[in-house]
Amino acid sequence: MPAVGIARGGGKEYAGKLTGYVLVTCIIAAMGGLIFGYDIGISGGVTSMDSFLKKFFPSVYRKKQLDKSTNQYCQYDSQTLTMFTSSLYLAALMASVVAATVTRKCGRKLSMFFGGVLFCAGAIINGAAHAVWMLILGRILLGFGIGFSNQSVPLYLSEMAPSKSRGALNICFQLSITVGILVANLLNYFFAKIEGGWGWRLSLGGAMVPALIITVGSLILPDTPNSMIERGQHEEAKTQLRRIRGVDDVSEEFNDLVIASDESNKIEDPWKNLLQRKYRPQLCMAILIPFFQQLTGINVIMFYAPVLFNTIGFGSDASLISAVITGLVNVAATIVSMYGVDKWGRRKLFLEGGTQMLICQIVVAACIGAKFGLDGNAGNLPKWYAIVVVVFICTYVAGFAWSWGPLGWLVPSEIFPMEIRSAAQSVNVSVNMIFTFIVAQVFLTMLCHMKFGLFIFFAFFVCVMSVFVYFFLPETKGIPIEEMSRVWKQHWYWKRFVTDEDYPNDGYEMSKSTISDIV
Ligand code: BGC
Repeated sequence: MPAVGIARGGGKEYAGKLTGYVLVTCIIAAMGGLIFGYDIGISGGVTSMDSFLKKFFPSVYRKKQLDKSTNQYCQYDSQTLTMFTSSLYLAALMASVVAATVTRKCGRKLSMFFGGVLFCAGAIINGAAHAVWMLILGRILLGFGIGFSNQSVPLYLSEMAPSKSRGALNICFQLSITVGILVANLLNYFFAKIEGGWGWRLSLGGAMVPALIITVGSLILPDTPNSMIERGQHEEAKTQLRRIRGVDDVSEEFNDLVIASDESNKIEDPWKNLLQRKYRPQLCMAILIPFFQQLTGINVIMFYAPVLFNTIGFGSDASLISAVITGLVNVAATIVSMYGVDKWGRRKLFLEGGTQMLICQIVVAACIGAKFGLDGNAGNLPKWYAIVVVVFICTYVAGFAWSWGPLGWLVPSEIFPMEIRSAAQSVNVSVNMIFTFIVAQVFLTMLCHMKFGLFIFFAFFVCVMSVFVYFFLPETKGIPIEEMSRVWKQHWYWKRFVTDEDYPNDGYEMSKSTISDIV
């Protein structure tokens, strides 16, 4: 049996503590997640508002009216409607590639700033929309905004945080995603009730608020020492490092950052570099982690919870309330993850969350299958049935929210060495966005054709990803970010891709001071 996913314990620890300054900067930066979350939550609710459908998607509206007694699985199946939700993700994908260069050459802050401004422009156009093209244009701008901020915020957080609390601080990003989703669900609930049916304008235009928060936030935030060194500002970086770690002697960490940055500066083309054999483990993770995160099926719930609850027989109001309940569970479980990630480690959370999601998906598939069968006709649904479905959906959301949700952003942001960090993060964001797009685009059609089997489809992937984590994902808890290379060198499988030359000293990139202490 291989030494599955184990990195040797101990290792280097830099001087310093979790300072108030780092805490505040990380909380502000993490607000970048709000725009992403707000958008995820708002689109599902808006697309279930009759006034919105009547104005922009009248054929879907008519079908919904006529179809009441026929096949429930297919009532929302419309490519144009899903295009509204998913166009954003294609735009985000493209933006993240541009953002890789901005983040590397101009710092993490500027990418966050662009993210906020573009998102704000999209929100204004969407709130004022009077034709489908305006909706789509607005969403493309929102997508550009998300591409920039998702590229830079997770990196920013992982670089700022001291390694012992990196997990918790990075998860502030996911926490603000979940808060964004919850706020959006709540607003949808109230705005849907506005007489005259123009509440959707407030829902879409309201995206300006989180956009302004991250725009202003990015102006007042400092850049990370890693990024300053990468751009040759050594003295400023040292001062900054002293401030964020709260100690005077930061030479050990500083020297390691300089070494990492020297390595990084030797690289002319980070994209081509990413294809080198020694970066194979990181490249595989940059692709597989976001792929698996989306194949948990979470966004079926996040985008379409109201539509889904409506499909299984809840009234419009009850559907929106259920979406608020899942939103609350999402936030609460993310806080559990913040608490546990640096104590229990990433692998335990991944494996527990995976098992929990798997069980819930099987139960939900069985419940829906038993009631709706293959023809999608349910008759009257008893109350207890609705409660069972909601409870299992919430338990599933909790499983995701303390595992694949936050870790899907945390783990990639902490495993890439500086020389490939921006490019690899952009692969991570792009893959995430492609699969978010695919799930958003085909979900309603899949529900229509696969029926309750859709949940079994996602359950299958949850099995695969849990086996993958068990065998292939090393534990990264507490390891300094510029020292991460050693986890691959000590891993039963990945060690074959890295040679002693790639990572001398057993993967420890020792600082000059540490080496001179020894000799
Ligand atoms: C995922 C999103 C998802 C959200 C739910 C994020 O980590 O990337 O796709 O909607 O979690 O909380």
